[in-house]
Amino acid sequence: HPRAWMGIGLCSLFGQAQAAWDVNMRSGATDVSRSVFDLHMTIFWICVIIGVLVFAVMFWSMFAHRRSKRLESAHFHENTKVEVLWTIIPLLILVGMAVPATRTLIHIYDSSESDVDIQITGYQWKWHYKYLGEDVEFFSNLTTPRDQINNVAPKGEHYLLEVDEPLVIPVGAKVRFLITAADVIHSWWVPDLAVKKDAIPGFINESWTRVEQPGIYRGQCTELCGKDHGFMPVVVEVKSQEDYAAWLGEKKAEAAKIAELTSKDWTLEELVERGEKVYQTNCSSCHQANGEGLPPMFPALKGSPIATGEAAAHIGIVVNGKKGSSMPAFGPQLSEVDISAVVTYERHAWGNDTGDMVTPKD
Ligand code: CUA
Repeated sequence: HPRAWMGIGLCSLFGQAQAAWDVNMRSGATDVSRSVFDLHMTIFWICVIIGVLVFAVMFWSMFAHRRSKRLESAHFHENTKVEVLWTIIPLLILVGMAVPATRTLIHIYDSSESDVDIQITGYQWKWHYKYLGEDVEFFSNLTTPRDQINNVAPKGEHYLLEVDEPLVIPVGAKVRFLITAADVIHSWWVPDLAVKKDAIPGFINESWTRVEQPGIYRGQCTELCGKDHGFMPVVVEVKSQEDYAAWLGEKKAEAAKIAELTSKDWTLEELVERGEKVYQTNCSSCHQANGEGLPPMFPALKGSPIATGEAAAHIGIVVNGKKGSSMPAFGPQLSEVDISAVVTYERHAWGNDTGDMVTPKD
């Protein structure tokens, strides 16, 4: 029968499309993500069945009665049987949907008894991860070159936005996330973990995950947060328990080294070299690598009073940000060494050539 063949054709077409475009939600890599996926499929099929039944009755009424001899409509006031039925059936359907939904929500919100607690803070435009109770914190910055993303990408090709430091978590452990933001609202989203929480300044959202397989899991900021919203990837690296412990040890050693750096005697060359890296990572996306800026939004630092004037004023702006502008406070983001290094670098590169060195000890 031709109609049957058409049906089979459409079905296989849909099947292929699903394989190629990944049309459906993904089932993910955690217990929570799978229960969210199962809930989604349950609700989906309930809706499909209701839709098919309603349309079947509607078309049957339209076509089966189109040659009806009776031209007058039926007149009646009430039909208790029908009214009871159309109250009870939807009620049962809603209860049938509410039970698994509530069970899933309770599961998702139970962040108690975590093994690892991580504070996630959204910044324009990067993520900050702080391991609570451990002396470990760092920023996760985009490292994929912009020209590659914007110009070189051939049409239809997928690009992975890479970061310098992914969030690292241990496999099999319950990891609790405390999610907030420092400037505007962001949203931390990793589809495979089924974690998607708004990061709101002055407010803490909680979530958790327990990933069963080591690997890289990807997501991105999912709340429009300004010019670089699209370049704020989330990369989560799930390591084995041993690898995680080793990584954590390394990170702690790094933190100890930074504390040591603060009391070191710096030379101008050393500070400028360090400052240039800090500048490229933190400042150049707005003030440009050459210091020309994008006036009037992002002022040029080259030859500006910021670079040539009092060092104290310059440090004040870097540490505290600038009220009423989009210049954020870097005080909570950068170590004392990095702040003194970047201010020294900017003054050296674009201010007076005496360098006006600012050391961490100052
Ligand atoms: Cu951060 Cu969008």
